[in-house]
Amino acid sequence: MLPVLLGGPEKLLINILNIARNYENTLFKAWVFNRLYIFSKTPEVVEAVLTNPNLFNKSKEYNVFSESIMGNGLFLNKKFHEWKMNRKMVAAGFKFSMLKSFVPIFYEEAKFLGKILYKKREINSNECEISSAIGMATLEMIGRTAFGVKLNAQKNDNHEFLENLQVIQKVFEYRITHPWFLNRSLFQFSTYKRKHDISQNKIYNFIDDLVQRINTELKNNKNSQGEHNEECMGLKSKSLIEILLENEHQTTFNQIRDEIITIISAAQDTTAFTNACAIFLLAHHQDIQNKVLEELLAIFSSGDPDRQPTYEDLQKMDYLERVIKETLRLYTVTPLLGRKVEKETMIGGYLIPEGSTFIICTQLLHLNANLYPEPEKFNPDNFLPEACRSRHPYSFIPFSGGYRNCIGMKYAMLQMKSVVSTLVRSYRFYPSDKCPNPENLRLMFAATQQFVDGCYVKIEART
Ligand code: HEM
Repeated sequence: MLPVLLGGPEKLLINILNIARNYENTLFKAWVFNRLYIFSKTPEVVEAVLTNPNLFNKSKEYNVFSESIMGNGLFLNKKFHEWKMNRKMVAAGFKFSMLKSFVPIFYEEAKFLGKILYKKREINSNECEISSAIGMATLEMIGRTAFGVKLNAQKNDNHEFLENLQVIQKVFEYRITHPWFLNRSLFQFSTYKRKHDISQNKIYNFIDDLVQRINTELKNNKNSQGEHNEECMGLKSKSLIEILLENEHQTTFNQIRDEIITIISAAQDTTAFTNACAIFLLAHHQDIQNKVLEELLAIFSSGDPDRQPTYEDLQKMDYLERVIKETLRLYTVTPLLGRKVEKETMIGGYLIPEGSTFIICTQLLHLNANLYPEPEKFNPDNFLPEACRSRHPYSFIPFSGGYRNCIGMKYAMLQMKSVVSTLVRSYRFYPSDKCPNPENLRLMFAATQQFVDGCYVKIEART
């Protein structure tokens, strides 16, 4: 297994998936030094793992994130009762009434993103690298929706939070592929340690400043609105940051910081990568892009065709939803999920020893030919209601499942539908000469799937 790990981030996932492919429909194991890893990719086993209380906690590799920036945030919290309480608190920031109020923000930032992409294109060829601008737009959206602040991310080519998050992810990739550096004491001697510490500090400073700024803004708003204002009387839904800060007496500042970093990191790469992949796939499948456009033209046929979408409009975008799900299937952002086996337990007919690590190969599950005919083909009809009904419920788990499923799933779907629909309404995308076939897209694994050298398409304004 060690040679697989040492092959570098681009080969890592390809190699793991190639090995896993040889083991059809069963569990298989691998050793890295004295550590036992058990892999699976069948829906029945995946369900058994994700719903098993003995496998509630994430595997040891994730400790790297806990030590660096996520601390005890929701994603990595190991104490069941504390996790449950915090999950309830964070979920309140993404409840239905809040999600509905995010739609105008998603639209406004997506519209701005379209202008940036169009301006960024090479004038003669229409070539455009879309992933970095989509990343900036995503950060702005999460800043405005969850934390009520403008980060002005779209006005720049990069942002200090994202730059430093990339360093932290690189360190994660380095430590899991050089497993002796998973040991904290040995990591002190690694060349990455200094870089890591600088980025960790910058992220902490950024969040501390952000919280201070939000606190001041919230106090100013309260004073200027007066005590009889209905917002002050608790009639308005509270944003995530208001909920977190109100609970400051029950929790520590560090816990609030951990939750904020967790939310930004969890929301950022995932939705940005999927949005870029969706646009990339639409560029390579003009027939499907035309169908998306047709659906949008029908939805916006009444009233002003350039109007902002409502929440209800977004709910009507059934075909686009299937396109996004199919994108998540083909390009699963989190292709591997790891769980620590806390107690010896029976799974898939085998006794799994305590202390081993269970790896769910989400990407392979999604490419399983028994579940998806022609699994490599981009076919949104894989998500027609009758096709979904015919499959095991754990056949499609881009947002994981069971206890630790994604808390931002509804937020993500709404945001991604807003972004892709807004872009497709104004622009046509087609394949770039730099990446003429989907097979030319280079991806790597650093906690999530990422682009090796960007994501290129051509962009043209619709008249
Ligand atoms: C395309 C978008 C997204 C994908 C594919 C995705 C995927 C996932 C997955 C696979 C997990 C669970 C990992 C595991 O089981 O080990 C997860 C957890 C989580 N996600 Fe997402 N996510 C997305 C967007 C978001 C967004 C937008 C937010 C916040 C606004 C978010 C917040 C979280 C949090 C806080 C957790 C930890 C939940 C817990 O352990 O209780 N995610 N996500």
